Amino acid sequence: MREDNVIREEDYVLIVLDDKRRWIVKVRAGGELHTHKGIIKFDDLLGQEFGTSVKSSGDRQLIVFKPTIADMSLLKMIRSTQIVYPKDSALIVIQCGIGPGSKVVEAGTGSGSLTSMLANFVRPTGRVYSYEARKEFLDAAKKNLELAGVSEWIEIKNADIIQGIEEKDVDAVVLDLATPWLAVQLAWEALKGGGVLTSYSPTIEQTQKTVKEASKENLFGDIQTYECFVRKILVREGKTRPETFMVGHTGYMTFARKLIKKT
Ligand SMILES: C[S@@+](CC[C@H](N)C(=O)[O-])C[C@H]1O[C@@H](n2cnc3c(N)ncnc32)[C@H](O)[C@@H]1O
Repeated sequence: MREDNVIREEDYVLIVLDDKRRWIVKVRAGGELHTHKGIIKFDDLLGQEFGTSVKSSGDRQLIVFKPTIADMSLLKMIRSTQIVYPKDSALIVIQCGIGPGSKVVEAGTGSGSLTSMLANFVRPTGRVYSYEARKEFLDAAKKNLELAGVSEWIEIKNADIIQGIEEKDVDAVVLDLATPWLAVQLAWEALKGGGVLTSYSPTIEQTQKTVKEASKENLFGDIQTYECFVRKILVREGKTRPETFMVGHTGYMTFARKLIKKT
């Protein structure tokens, strides 16, 4: 990671006009971003600090930030599958206790959105082992992870997780696949005692099957399922209220901690 906060050639920048009109672009000398509010010249950005503002040729003021991992996921990554939204990824990271040095197994990689969030938190000394059964998704996912700048902390495996998990003593196993209950026993074997199994599923039926499996033979304890809603608030003098529309449903998240078998 760089020490300074200065925009340089090849950096990605987030250029914001307003809530809805925002772009992530790579800065190159002589390059330009064309918007319907005018052109922004990248030469005006080079050497400036992130957080600067810039005027377009149409005399509009835009602001320039360093994109976060969430900005990258929502604005820049190619979606070849459904993705886990940053609001849900945040809950997963916190509930699993993922931090620098954590060893995390994940399946399936899909578009790599959740993978990028996990990797962002395990760095600089941890690792994410991400299983993806379908080869056709791998190229796009790898590109997305390169874009997000986190590939260094990820090992992608073109493998079906239900055939086995190679890693042992991992801190967390995170599942976002159609049949997570089939991987519960394998997750138990891969986790260290007290390690967290997370399953993200769009339907209640998948969630029930997974919880049932995790509860069998005292494999896991402290099993909790959540749904996470994020509602944006429009804060305006004298008329502050929630936005009319919001993302209503994404997925249910189940968290379960590995129990050690007493002999
Ligand atoms: C909904 S997508 C995952 C999206 C991903 N979490 C993201 O945020 O971009 C589900 C992925 O799981 C993969 N998958 C399904 N079953 C699998 C299995 N048994 N092992 C590995 N990957 C699997 C699918 O091919 C698909 O790419």
